[in-house]
Amino acid sequence: MSLLAVEDIHTYYGEAHILQGVSLTAGEGEVVTLIGRNGAGKTTTLRSIMGIARPRRGHVRLRGDDITALGTHAIAHRGIAWVPEERRVLSNLTVLENLRLGMLGGSGTNGATKLLDEVFGYFPRLRERIDQRGRFLSGGEQQMLAIARGLVSRPSVMLVDEPTEGLAPLLVQNLTEILATINRRGTTILLVEQTLEVALRLSHRLYVMDQGQIQFEGTPDQLRRDPTIQQRFLEI
Ligand SMILES: Nc1ncnc2c1ncn2[C@@H]1O[C@H](COP(=O)(O)OP(=O)(O)OP(=O)(O)O)[C@@H](O)[C@H]1O
Ligand SMILES: [Mg+2]
Repeated sequence: MSLLAVEDIHTYYGEAHILQGVSLTAGEGEVVTLIGRNGAGKTTTLRSIMGIARPRRGHVRLRGDDITALGTHAIAHRGIAWVPEERRVLSNLTVLENLRLGMLGGSGTNGATKLLDEVFGYFPRLRERIDQRGRFLSGGEQQMLAIARGLVSRPSVMLVDEPTEGLAPLLVQNLTEILATINRRGTTILLVEQTLEVALRLSHRLYVMDQGQIQFEGTPDQLRRDPTIQQRFLEI
């Protein structure tokens, strides 16, 4: 059984039929990437999993349990963390305050200290800036904070939407390595990524999406060897 399974979902914005039968899975320990052009429906897929954009048909399952009808908070409590495209770091709160918001209660002081140590292990830069307010962080630091805030909820699955967008090449490389480490230590990741190289490097499997439908599913090697799919659906 897959940790996360999206089964034939149809999601609309008003009358616009955006997701037209999307199915995908992420197994325990996998990095699975959704890749595709602007407007393909990648973010809508993540929003559908989180119950923000509600599928009209189809199901989302976590460890086999149907979570399609649950509210967004309940879904987060079940163990799915969402790192949105626009990062949503709270600009008036400090790094530490932002991280505390990400902790889903019940961790107590000792638990909280341990969690913070763990995320600062991934992102030492955030420890240096612990009392800095969100608005004074660079784009890269905000992205780190957004991911760190997801991690402190101890998710089973993290949905990460275009983490490398707008970052300098060195930071892209750095962040790619950090995501790989987070995954190796046990967090399943469903990633949306437009940079093919990053996607190929990080993923165990990829889905290519176009116009609200999955057009290809395979391993990085299979996608590398398929120039037709690359030319039809990816900007390369
Ligand atoms: N709130 C909304 N209301 C109406 N239409 C929307 C809304 N959000 C997205 N759309 C439309 O839904 C389609 C899919 O958008 P989505 O944001 O899921 O694409 P995406 O693959 O994440 O693209 P990008 O790479 O630009 O982030 C697009 O045609 C977009 O214009
Ligand atoms: Mg998007």
